[in-house]
Amino acid sequence: MSVLIVDDERNIRSSLKKYLSLEGIEAEYAETGEAALAYLERASFDAVLLDLKLPGINGQDVLEWMQRRGIRSPVIMISAHGQIADAVRALKSGAKDYLVKPFDPAELVIKLRSLLENKRREDMIEAGKRTCGARENALIGNTELMRRLSRQIDKIASTDVTVLVTGESGTGKEIVAREIHARSQNRDEPFVAVNIGGVHEGLMESELFGHEKGAFTGAVNRKPGLFELAGRGCLFLDEIGEMPMPLQVKLLRVLQERKIRRLGGMNDIPVNARIVSATNRDLETMVREGSFREDLYYRLNVFRIELPPLRERLEDIPFLVDHLLNKLASRMGRAVPVLDPQAADKLRSYSYPGNIRELENMLERGLIYSDGQSITCEDIDLHALKGMSPSESSESPELKFHGLPSSRSLEYIEKEAVREALARYQGNRTKAAEALGISRKTILNKIKVYKLENFGDEES
Ligand SMILES: Nc1ncnc2c1ncn2[C@@H]1O[C@H](COP(=O)(O)OP(=O)(O)OP(=O)(O)O)[C@@H](O)[C@H]1O
Ligand SMILES: [Mg+2]
Repeated sequence: MSVLIVDDERNIRSSLKKYLSLEGIEAEYAETGEAALAYLERASFDAVLLDLKLPGINGQDVLEWMQRRGIRSPVIMISAHGQIADAVRALKSGAKDYLVKPFDPAELVIKLRSLLENKRREDMIEAGKRTCGARENALIGNTELMRRLSRQIDKIASTDVTVLVTGESGTGKEIVAREIHARSQNRDEPFVAVNIGGVHEGLMESELFGHEKGAFTGAVNRKPGLFELAGRGCLFLDEIGEMPMPLQVKLLRVLQERKIRRLGGMNDIPVNARIVSATNRDLETMVREGSFREDLYYRLNVFRIELPPLRERLEDIPFLVDHLLNKLASRMGRAVPVLDPQAADKLRSYSYPGNIRELENMLERGLIYSDGQSITCEDIDLHALKGMSPSESSESPELKFHGLPSSRSLEYIEKEAVREALARYQGNRTKAAEALGISRKTILNKIKVYKLENFGDEES
């Protein structure tokens, strides 16, 4: 059993170290939240013991980051006396248990062992469930374009062909990948998605192919790669155009030979998963310019699905709106509002450079601003991005939140703040990050998490 212990108090770390090693439990120790993230990126742990109060990013942040990353190691929170409200919040965010300081290490060991037992059981069930996220991900559309697409997906699903999905940002590439899997014979096997653009280059190889314990400094445990985790299911390589050249060579070899070897490993592991990749970049041009390997391109592009931009199928908007409002309302725990006819006309009058994701964001805002019963014309802001004049921004560098409803979750406020900062600085990530007082890396992360990629164009 391997455990990561994150606590800034040296005393706690050293006493636990002694106690756990007597119990035969291997532990790694991190002093800060940042160090914990670095550990969690590199290795998987059977459990994480996380102090809520840390210098820098705190325990709650680490926990939320783990959730977003899909890191499933169970977490036990440590809170000080009097921090019960925070501990409850941590439990709500997915922590499995908590301990109040000072605690008896024997109690910790009992909790650890029972977590491990539960995780074993969950892991077994999870393999089958990790398929698609049910109805939320349905592929909506009634135009001839979309019906043809649906027929294509049926055909592909019955084979194990490699698929490349292309289309502008927000057109539903990931939905299509999930749908191919959901309609295939192997739907009960895992669907594993990886965003190539979001993985640090230095970690990509071990992420995809896995590593053995000790393969490199920091490889404290053996870790299976995503190819392996996908089993006989589907591996979705999102933003494949972002793959660095050296990795392209390696991926090509894997696709040719249909086997992988973990970093530092000796054995070949067969690759049985279907590979679906996606990009909003023009791979043909990248091939011509030499930034994407031609041979890899042909390996990936065995079957091509090109998704049309939303502006080419505006007739689908009413269906999409209906579906998205249902999805958003149920996620926010609200009743599904009615869209009044003028608002519907307004939605059909726009060109949606950010496609369905933009429509979804717009409806989310509409829903928040609406009275809860119906969404009117005023609740819909087609140009939320361009809403602020440049003069206003140069005069007041600090950001203000206009018209923010009073009881909103912190997450909502954060998303809104990032969105507003991006709008104010025309999508310039660096300036937006400065205005928010966070690093560029953090804002890039938030943009990913909140799917704000379409808000403004990245500076050159
Ligand atoms: N046909 C569709 N029916 C219902 N919802 C859709 C459809 N297409 C896209 N969506 C929704 O729109 C959003 C964007 O879709 P998705 O993430 O699949 O886009 P994408 O093409 O992968 O975009 P990006 O290139 O920005 O990653 C998602 O919330 C998705 O649920
Ligand atoms: Mg995507």
